[in-house]
Amino acid sequence: MNRLRIAVLASGRGSNLQAIIDAIESGELNAEIVIVISDKKNAYALKRAKRHGINRLFISPKDKKREEYDKEIVNQLHKYNVELVCLAGFMRILSPYFVKEFKNRIMNIHPTLLPSFPGLHGQKQALDYGVKISGCTVHFVDEGCDTGPIILQKAVEVLDTDTEESLSSRILECEHKLYPQAISLFASGRLKILGRKVIIL
Ligand code: GAR
Repeated sequence: MNRLRIAVLASGRGSNLQAIIDAIESGELNAEIVIVISDKKNAYALKRAKRHGINRLFISPKDKKREEYDKEIVNQLHKYNVELVCLAGFMRILSPYFVKEFKNRIMNIHPTLLPSFPGLHGQKQALDYGVKISGCTVHFVDEGCDTGPIILQKAVEVLDTDTEESLSSRILECEHKLYPQAISLFASGRLKILGRKVIIL
């Protein structure tokens, strides 16, 4: 079976990128990362890509309108014949143009149980709210902020003693398992989107 051609977009340390790389290298995920793109020149994610011999690109958002910037990314994605775009700590909201170009072919990971606590600092939002259970979500990306159809979720207990750091680190462990699983389901054609629902075949 052909390996799914994926692109990973990341702005930061790239631990989810690393989890995807590890799942591919261990044979757990039948995919190939054909390009890693970052909007931050010094993103550690780019160094991880380099270490594993993966094509990587910094595209500067400076002085560019959102759609103009997204067009640059989309051009690269087409150039590399990307089949699935994985956002992994990519801290930008995609333009409707980008979402349309890759409709139902963009995934994101978020460190809460959506629809609770979308946007930035989800773990802190959950902690401040006082929830007893939080977790992580992998979802398809639509035009909204963290609003697309949910693929997989995993719950994590919130402890009375938790700090933002301790909760984030337990959630991150779950993220690293959940994201490769979701990509793997996509790669084997097992995800069907019906309105807001994602059916796992
Ligand atoms: C992850 O916790 C991810 O869920 C979160 O950023 C972190 C990136 O870590 N994403 C969001 O909050 C998106 N709204 P990483 O760079 O180590 O993968």
